[in-house]
Amino acid sequence: MSSHDTSPFYITTAISYVNGKPHLGHAYEQILTDVMARFQRLDGREVMFLTGTDEHGQKVAKTAETRGMEPQAFCDEISESFRDMTTQLNISNDDFIRTTEERHYKASQAIWTAIKENNPDDIYLGKYDGWYSVRDEAYFAEDELTTAEDGKTKLAPTGAEVEWVEEPCYFFKLSAYGDKLLEYYDANPDFIQPEARRNEIKAFVKRGLQDISISRTTFKWGVPVPNDPDHVMYVWLDALTNYITALGYPDTNDEKYEKFWPANYHVIGKDIIRFHCIYWPAFLMAANLEVPHTVFAHGFINVEGQKMSKSVGNVIAPQDLIDAYGLDQTRYLLMREVSHGNDGNFSHEHAVQRINSDLANGLGNLAQRSLSMIYKNCDGAIPEAGALSDEDQVLLTHAYEKLLPAIRGEANNMRFNRMLELIWRLVIDANGYIDAQAPWGLKKTDPERMKTVLYVLADVIRVLGIAVQSVTPEAGAKILNQLKIAEGERSFANMSKDYALKSGTEIDQPEGVFPRLDTKEEAT
Ligand code: MSP
Repeated sequence: MSSHDTSPFYITTAISYVNGKPHLGHAYEQILTDVMARFQRLDGREVMFLTGTDEHGQKVAKTAETRGMEPQAFCDEISESFRDMTTQLNISNDDFIRTTEERHYKASQAIWTAIKENNPDDIYLGKYDGWYSVRDEAYFAEDELTTAEDGKTKLAPTGAEVEWVEEPCYFFKLSAYGDKLLEYYDANPDFIQPEARRNEIKAFVKRGLQDISISRTTFKWGVPVPNDPDHVMYVWLDALTNYITALGYPDTNDEKYEKFWPANYHVIGKDIIRFHCIYWPAFLMAANLEVPHTVFAHGFINVEGQKMSKSVGNVIAPQDLIDAYGLDQTRYLLMREVSHGNDGNFSHEHAVQRINSDLANGLGNLAQRSLSMIYKNCDGAIPEAGALSDEDQVLLTHAYEKLLPAIRGEANNMRFNRMLELIWRLVIDANGYIDAQAPWGLKKTDPERMKTVLYVLADVIRVLGIAVQSVTPEAGAKILNQLKIAEGERSFANMSKDYALKSGTEIDQPEGVFPRLDTKEEAT
C-alpha cells in the first residue's frame, strides 16, 4: 500500500447566515465537506470537522426586524434549522458553532486585540463614506458598481443593491498586505483551489488593495469592539474568526488549537473567496497567527438549469430530496453530478436515471444477486474459494491493490465525482464478471467453481462496501453488516487481501440496499 499522510486534519464549511432556512446549496457544501471528513477518518487520520451559523450583521438584524422578532430569538430559531439539517444529511461534524456564543465573543475580541498589539498601525479610527451591500455584507468601490434598469439603483457585481453609508469606523490597513499576500500565494500554490480561482484572486490583489472598514456604528447587532462599545465588529471579521474559536482561541496552547491549526481545508462557495483568500489571511498575518493550507471554492447548485431563487420559486429544501430519493441517494447524486469546483445542475429526471443506473442496477444489484446466491446455495455462509482463475485474480487485484491509491489521489484533491467514477469502474467490472462467469449455471455443472466465483464476488463487495462509506455511509454499513464485518475492520487499511472474508462466516439474509425508483412517478 502506498504511504499516505496520517497527520491530524481540520476541515470547515462556511458558516451560514441565519436570514433564511437551509437550501440545497447549503446541503451541497455540507455533504462535500462531510465526504472529505469521512474519507480522511477512514484513511486513518484524526479529523476535526466544523460547521455552524453566522448570526450577526445588518442582514440578519434587518430580517429579524421584518419578522418582528428580537435578533437573538430569531437566530435561535433559524440556527436550529441548520443544526437539524446536519442530522438530516448524516453530517459527521465534530462541533457546531454559533457566532452568538460566549466563546466566540471572546475569540473575536481577542483577534482584534492581537492585531492591535502586534501591528498597532494596522487598526485606525476614521470614517467610511461609501457603498455597502447588505445582502453580501460587503463594501464596494464606485468603479465596481453598475446601474439597475430603473436608472437609479446602484448594483454590486453580485447583482445586490448597494446603499450609501456614512459612519465613523475603524479601518484595517489591508493596503499594507498586498505584497505579503502575493508572496504567500506563490509560496503556497495549494492555498487557493481550484487553480482558476487562484488566478482570479491574484489579479485582484495585484490591482492594489484598499484599507477596509472593520467596524459599524449604525446598528448594534454584533460583537462590541474592545474598549469602544459604540462600535460592533464588521461581521466578516467576526465570522471568519469562528474557525479558530472552535479550537479554543485565544488559548493557542489549547490542545485542539495546537493539533488542528492551521486548518487543512476551508470549504466555501465561489461567492465568498475574496473574504477567505484576502481578508482572512491578512487578518491572521496581522495577528501573528498561521494561515490555513487550502481554501477550496466550490461552484453553485442550480435547479433544472436555473439559479435557485425565491422569486423563481425553485428553492429546494434538502429534506424534500431525501423524502423523494433517500438520504444516501441524495448524497451520491450531489457528489456524482458536480465536478470539481464547477457549478452543478440538479434535475429530477436526471436524478432518477442516475440513481437507478448507478445505485439500484449497479451496486445494489451486484450485492443483491451475489449475496442472495450465497445465502441460497451455500448454506447462508461465505463459501470456500478453490484455485483462482486469471479473471478472478484481475478482479481481486483491482479491489485489493488498485482501488485505494486511485481514489485517494482524487479524494485528497476534492474530486469526488472522479472518485465515484473509479469506484464504479469496479462495480461495472464485477457486474461484468458475474455475467461472464454465470454462477447460476455453474450450480449444476461445476459447484466448486460456483463457490469460488461467489467468494470472489463477496470479497469484492466487501471492498466496495468499505470504499463507498464516505459518500453513502448507511448503504456502506448495510453491506458490511450483511457480510458480518466487524466495526474495527471497516477502514481503508482493511481493503487489502489481509482482511479477506473468512470462509464459513454466516451472512444475514440479504436485503436490497438501493431500491429502484419509479421513473414515471419521480420524473414529474
Ligand atoms: N455567512 C457567510 C459565510 C461566512 S464564513 C466565515 C455566507 N453565508 S451563506 O449562508 O450565504 O452561504 C453559506 C455557504 O453556502 C457559502 O459557502 C455559499 O457559497 C454557499 N452557497 C449558497 N448558495 C449556494 C448554492 N446555490 N450552491 C452552492 N453553494 C451555495 O456566505
